[in-house]
This record gives sequence, C-alpha cells and structure tokens, in this order.
Amino acid sequence: MSKRILITEPIIPSVIERLEKRYQVDVGERRTYNEEQALIDDISEYDALLPMLSNPITEKVIAAGSNLKIIANHAVGYNNIDLAAAQKHNVAVANTPGVLTDSCAEFTIGLMLAVSRRLFEAQQYLLDGKFNDWEPLGFLGKELNGSTLGIIGMGRIGTGVARRAKALGMEIIYHNRNRVSANLEQELKATFCPTVQELVSKSDTITLHCPLTDETHHLINEETLSLMSDEAILINTSRGPVVDEEALAQALHDRSIGGAGLDVFENEPELHPKLKTAPNCIRTPHIASASFQTREAIGMLAADAIIGILEDQPTSEIPNLIQP
Ligand code: GLV
Repeated sequence: MSKRILITEPIIPSVIERLEKRYQVDVGERRTYNEEQALIDDISEYDALLPMLSNPITEKVIAAGSNLKIIANHAVGYNNIDLAAAQKHNVAVANTPGVLTDSCAEFTIGLMLAVSRRLFEAQQYLLDGKFNDWEPLGFLGKELNGSTLGIIGMGRIGTGVARRAKALGMEIIYHNRNRVSANLEQELKATFCPTVQELVSKSDTITLHCPLTDETHHLINEETLSLMSDEAILINTSRGPVVDEEALAQALHDRSIGGAGLDVFENEPELHPKLKTAPNCIRTPHIASASFQTREAIGMLAADAIIGILEDQPTSEIPNLIQP
C-alpha cells in the first residue's frame, strides 16, 4: 500500500502534485491542525507530516504518530516542533533553510523603508482627504543612507539584509552567537558587537534575525528598549516572542523609540491591543517569506526531505534534515 502523507493546509499545488505522484496525500483544511488534539487524532495514519509553523508538533503528537518517519516543516524556523521528542521517537525533522533568504531580506528592507519614510501613515493621510497642497514640512522621515543598522542574528537572512543595507549606504554592526568569518566582515564592512546592549545603543535601526530559543526569548525587553535612541526603529521578521510586546508597545506609546516594523507577534495571530494603537508602527501578518517563488521552493524542499526519508536515501544526502 502506498505511503501516506499529511500536508496540514493547502500549499502551492505543484508541491502537492509532486508528492501525489508517489504517495497518498491528504491536505488538511485551513487551521484544522492548529489544534494539538486534531493532530493527535489523525497522525497515526501517516508516514510523513508536512506541517505549517502554526501547528504545534508536541511530544504528544509525535508519540501518537506510530507510523511517522519524518516531519518536514513548511518553514525555516522550527520552534513549533519538539525536537527532543522527535529524536526520542526516532522521527526525522527537516526545515527549509536557504530558499527564503532573499524574500525575507527584501521584505525586511521594505519594512525599514516603510517605517523610516512613514509610508502607511502618509497614505492614510492622503486617503483621509487631508492632502490639500504640497507641504515642505509634511511627513519628514529619516534616510537610511549613512545610518547605522544593528543586526541581531547574522545567519543567512541577517547576511542577506546586511548586503542590501550596505548597498543603501548603511553602516552595519551585528551581534551573533559567534563572530562571522573575517572575509564576510570585510565584505559587509560589518563590526561585531559582543553584547546586545552595545548593539542596540549604537543603532539607528535594529533588525532581528535570530531563532527563537530560551536565550532569545524577550531579548528585546524593557532594559534593551531603554538603551535605544528615541529615534531608533525596531524591525522584527524573526519570531514574535523574541520581543516583549508589552514593553515594546509601551515604548512606542511613550515615544521613547522612533518606530517599529513587525511581521511577527508574540501570540500569533493575536495582536497585542496596545500594539494595535501604537504610533509609528507597521504591522503585517507574518508574510516575509510570502513570494510565490519562495513558498513553492519551501514546499519543494520539504517534499525533498520526505521523499529522501521514505525512499531510504542516506540521511547525509538530505541537506535540510535538522540534527538535534
Ligand atoms: C517563517 O517564518 C519561517 O520560519 O519559514
């Protein structure tokens, strides 16, 4: 009997069609598998799971997957999966590194420009019928050229942002668990900051590209926000809980920082009520990787890992497996 795959939500059709050529594929309805219990109820039927980052792949889910051989996340971040439990139950886990670097880096630059030049606020003004004549003092923003960008997390996406920011004339400083190579530092003319505190106090714009771990949870908090200049802009396209939203919302309302561009939130899909009304804040619904090419490539990479594991390819040949 052919192997069974569960894709928890509709994704780009070419990915589903590719898996359907080899396996029996079920595609869940939107949001059904955001509930742990729904996964627990159904998972024992399947050899492979292709979940979204909104699906909680907990120990209970993995333990219920008596036939499960691989979880291939439809995302590069995999904080929705209990990796230790997967290892314990001998289930492989894969993510999608590399293919969303460009879309996320471009989107991050877009948010930086939109916040610093007040694009959405200006559009609202126009739509509200307030643009009656050209104003020499209207909507004065800040140029990115010549300003300092502080990058927290200098992996693939952080580096992609740095390359684009350098082309815009920004100075790059960064904080990362480990210093990047001397060659890369030289290419980006990037300066390493040993502490987050130093980085945030020296940056005009701070952008987050670290994974969500115990160490990075609330890395941006009341203390680090208080070290930012009152014109500093915070951009988050990583994971919501890296930022203490209550503290950020307060800082925006107090105007103790200049603005924020947020694509991710602490309790997605909820928006903190104080962030709803915060000034100089652009909020988007977790779409940094949402280009057609990237979402197709994400799906194909997840499918590669599923096919590799189910066809007994040596694991060393499946580049996107996560080794815990
Ligand atoms: C998106 O947030 C991802 O991790 O792929």
